[in-house]
Amino acid sequence: MNKHFWDRYHEYSQICHSTGSLISLSYAPCVFWRLMANTSTLISGLLCCASRFVLAEALRTTAKIGGQTAIILREGTSRTQGREGQRGNIEAALVIAESIRSSMGPRGMDKMLVDGFGDVTISNDGATILDEMDVQHPAAKMMVEVAKTQDDEVGDGTTTAVVLAGELLKKALELIGKDIHPTLIVDGYSAAGEKALEYLEKLAIKVNPSDKNMLGKIAKIALASKILAEHKVHVADIAVKAVLEVAEKDGNHYRVDIDDIKVEKKPGGSLTDTILIQGVLLDKEVVHPGMPKHLTNARVAILNCPLEVEKTEFDAKLNIENPDQMKSFLDEEEKILKGMVEKIAKTGANVVVCEKGIDDAVQHFLARRNILAVRRVKQSDMEKLAKATGGKIVTNLDDLTKTDLGEAKLVEERKVSDDKMTFVEGCKNPKAVSILVRGGTERVVDEAERALHDALCVVRDVVVDPRIVVGGGATEAELSRLLRIYSQKLSGKDQLAAQAYAEALEIIPMTLAENAGMDSVNSLMELRSKHQSKQRNVGIDPINAKVTDVSRLEVYEPLVVKVQALKSAGEAAGMILKIDDIIAASRSKEGAGGGPPRGSEDGAKEEGEGEF
Ligand SMILES: Nc1ncnc2c1ncn2[C@@H]1O[C@H](COP(=O)(O)OP(=O)(O)O)[C@@H](O)[C@H]1O
Ligand SMILES: [Mg+2]
Repeated sequence: MNKHFWDRYHEYSQICHSTGSLISLSYAPCVFWRLMANTSTLISGLLCCASRFVLAEALRTTAKIGGQTAIILREGTSRTQGREGQRGNIEAALVIAESIRSSMGPRGMDKMLVDGFGDVTISNDGATILDEMDVQHPAAKMMVEVAKTQDDEVGDGTTTAVVLAGELLKKALELIGKDIHPTLIVDGYSAAGEKALEYLEKLAIKVNPSDKNMLGKIAKIALASKILAEHKVHVADIAVKAVLEVAEKDGNHYRVDIDDIKVEKKPGGSLTDTILIQGVLLDKEVVHPGMPKHLTNARVAILNCPLEVEKTEFDAKLNIENPDQMKSFLDEEEKILKGMVEKIAKTGANVVVCEKGIDDAVQHFLARRNILAVRRVKQSDMEKLAKATGGKIVTNLDDLTKTDLGEAKLVEERKVSDDKMTFVEGCKNPKAVSILVRGGTERVVDEAERALHDALCVVRDVVVDPRIVVGGGATEAELSRLLRIYSQKLSGKDQLAAQAYAEALEIIPMTLAENAGMDSVNSLMELRSKHQSKQRNVGIDPINAKVTDVSRLEVYEPLVVKVQALKSAGEAAGMILKIDDIIAASRSKEGAGGGPPRGSEDGAKEEGEGEF
């Protein structure tokens, strides 16, 4: 039945092609038979078809309908279908995977990316590289999304996920070449993927979520391939302390919001000068020179109301007839401003952190009372400050009481590089902390910040879900072995798909070996034979260029990172494989309106020329 259906469809699409008409695939056979029936049904069929397309208004056909030419597609719309479309998509996705493969692992290389304005980014982070690459091809964009999802969900394993998705597609291309239908491959991959997740859970090792030593090891592995590799002991320690500080116990589990860790970066000094602050670091200076710059045992008023006389929302005109009236106005204003300072001082606060502005007069009165103040603080920082100091954000000054004040051992303005920053330190049991990243140049600091993000995320991952797996490609090699055994129980094309999935997983150890300058084929053979002989922790040690038991080298990764990588790689590969028709609207001449982009920036392609 299926064959008959496809034969009819191909016949139909030939006709469409020759007339230049484009009709939704799912609707195509139905329209074909209606075409045979009568013209009125054909028109309704075509209209229905057109509405099924997202690009309906952009489609054009030269087909004669009722003796008249009906225009459904806009000029310049292109279509690539069948094998050609599939191959185009897969190859575009493979280019993406291939481009970041060399950056994987501790021996991975960095990429230098220059944007349209000439700004340079140097990075080893998969998500950052792909984000900066400004990818145009729609299928390639899906690979970029894989990295983004991985980054958003678990924070690490972005390169792994993209490389794996690429390899799944590569293997699928081979199977398509053997005349296996893509939907069968997708089904086979999805079944193998589920099995892999099952095995992965079994391979996981339970750890203690507050074991600093273990968390440190995981953070060090996340930092191993990054710019911070040389300083990984120092930075991993900071990451572990920061995450444990903001972790909140919820029954038997921990909750961690990574946003409670503020990362501030300032070029200058060296990476070893990176520090953890038990409190909040505000990139603001003290507002008045007469104010203290160093206060111990601080009581902090956290205000989000302006300390100014607010302007009325309507225009009013006042006629002043003598200087006394003027003076009384000014006196009144001063009284209001003084009143504000009184209210603050009455609570015993000696530090004011304000989200809005602070009037010059208020600054002066605060300074006279030895109160330190900073203004125009970001809302996110205000929230962190409240969490760190245990204070409350107060919206109306009249409501400010002693109990609203936050506490910190030290509030101090310090010069960092060329800027002055305010440190709120030594908070008791802070639920928000800050990390100040330092480094030789701006680019170094930027990349260090990204690496630190990975380290914080992996520690968070393990604190939240305390299960880990062995890294260095050992887990992937073991999964591959288990899936091969599983595939033996299957038959026919399912077996081929499961085997392809199993082989695709080996791309991770192979890439680690390749990047370390090892012979990847020999390494893979050695790895396979060791796994056959039940040495499941054997992986690649890129540092010493050896195939060895990597658990002895304490190469561990969070289970959730691997789970997410398998899931997102499988889903992306499945999605790309299921596409067999690409209908792309032409870009409008003004460049507005979007639509899948053209191959060349100037859009100089001929009408109807394939894009993919
Ligand atoms: N010291 C090490 N020895 C062996 N493998 C390592 C080591 N450090 C990191 N890896 C491996 O490198 C891979 C991660 O590389 P990385 O460049 O961070 O890419 P990703 O973006 O996927 O995290 C993981 O498979 C991890 O197990
Ligand atoms: Mg990593």
